[in-house]
Amino acid sequence: MIYLDNSATTRPHPEVIETVRRAMESYYGNPSSLHQKGVEAENVLKQARKVAAQYLGCKEGEVFFTSGGTESNNTAIKGIAFQYQNRGKHIITTQVEHPAVYDVCKQLESFGFTVTYLPVDREGRVSLEDVKRALRPDTILVSVMHVNNELGTIQPVAEIGQWLKQFPKVLFHVDAVQGIGKVPLRLQDSGIDLLSVSAHKFYGPRGVGILYKREGLIIHPLIMGGGQEGGIRSGTENLPAIAGLAKAIRILEELGHGEVNRLQGLHQQLREGIQRIEGCIVNTPEAGAAPHIMNLSVPGVKAEVLLHALEERGFLVSTKSACSSKANEPSRVLTAAGIDRDCALSSLRISLGRENTSEEIAQFLTALQTCVGSLRPLLKPQAAPDRRK
Ligand SMILES: Cc1ncc(COP(=O)(O)O)c(C=O)c1O
Repeated sequence: MIYLDNSATTRPHPEVIETVRRAMESYYGNPSSLHQKGVEAENVLKQARKVAAQYLGCKEGEVFFTSGGTESNNTAIKGIAFQYQNRGKHIITTQVEHPAVYDVCKQLESFGFTVTYLPVDREGRVSLEDVKRALRPDTILVSVMHVNNELGTIQPVAEIGQWLKQFPKVLFHVDAVQGIGKVPLRLQDSGIDLLSVSAHKFYGPRGVGILYKREGLIIHPLIMGGGQEGGIRSGTENLPAIAGLAKAIRILEELGHGEVNRLQGLHQQLREGIQRIEGCIVNTPEAGAAPHIMNLSVPGVKAEVLLHALEERGFLVSTKSACSSKANEPSRVLTAAGIDRDCALSSLRISLGRENTSEEIAQFLTALQTCVGSLRPLLKPQAAPDRRK
């Protein structure tokens, strides 16, 4: 099987697995305990926080370990909303956020908050001008993702952060889950107050992540208890997973930009190959996209059918076109980008990772061509969409 679903999750690096195993075996003390085993565990935790802070370019006290991207997003957005609701109840986000942001905002609406969901252009990109227009005296938070998980589009978060600096009471959260290790993002002087990270997207363990929270910023904790993680996230720390996260970060640092360049090469190979296949449309923008996500459509062919045809040939990809609960509902993200229903319902996401090779991409393109060639003739001529409508 050739795994091309690295945006869903990545295969943990063997050294990460070994680090987790060793932490479970040797550092089983509770970091809050005062005895030797507790101190040893606490040192592992401190070391992991140092590694994370160095990588993110922030202070150790600004790193909070969580159970992953979903929890980091919830903690950031609800934590700000609940803490600063007396200042205002308006939040700005986008129509293309991951459900871990989008549905949190929907939930806040049911609690009496007002949310502006900014539109995006044909490439799935939000504009700074729209952020400027949406800002109101009662706005307390802007939340914009770094890299879109379906299209790979890079959002102008650096630009938005710079502009928002003139409004210190408007806080800025960035869901950076898909960008870490692939698209550089500078935290220092960025205007970003909160940032979400998830280890399983970069070869770390799942169920562990980071919330960066700017020093001095107070948020309302969602999980109360023993006061761990600065009181923001109580609960005995998942030390083995945190140690694994730190190892995954170290490996990212060791590989450096060379790996990103390699992914960029594979991405381009994939794009050119897809563009040569009759009936295939590339949805991921040519410029300003992350090097690991490629979204394509084969109008008229149901995404699930194509996905399983590719799986039979040994290729594992993803469909985001229909959310599992609502069959035949096109992706909210692709629809927001103006992609028509037929294209959205037939969209597949191919996401590249460290283990993929150029040879695998060539094999995938051959399989895709064969699948599309055999599925498209099954289309009834009248099933073709009338583009004039
Ligand atoms: C952009 C984005 N945000 C948040 C998440 C959720 O992260 P986690 O799986 O760690 O909860 C994901 C996972 O797919 C994602 O792609």
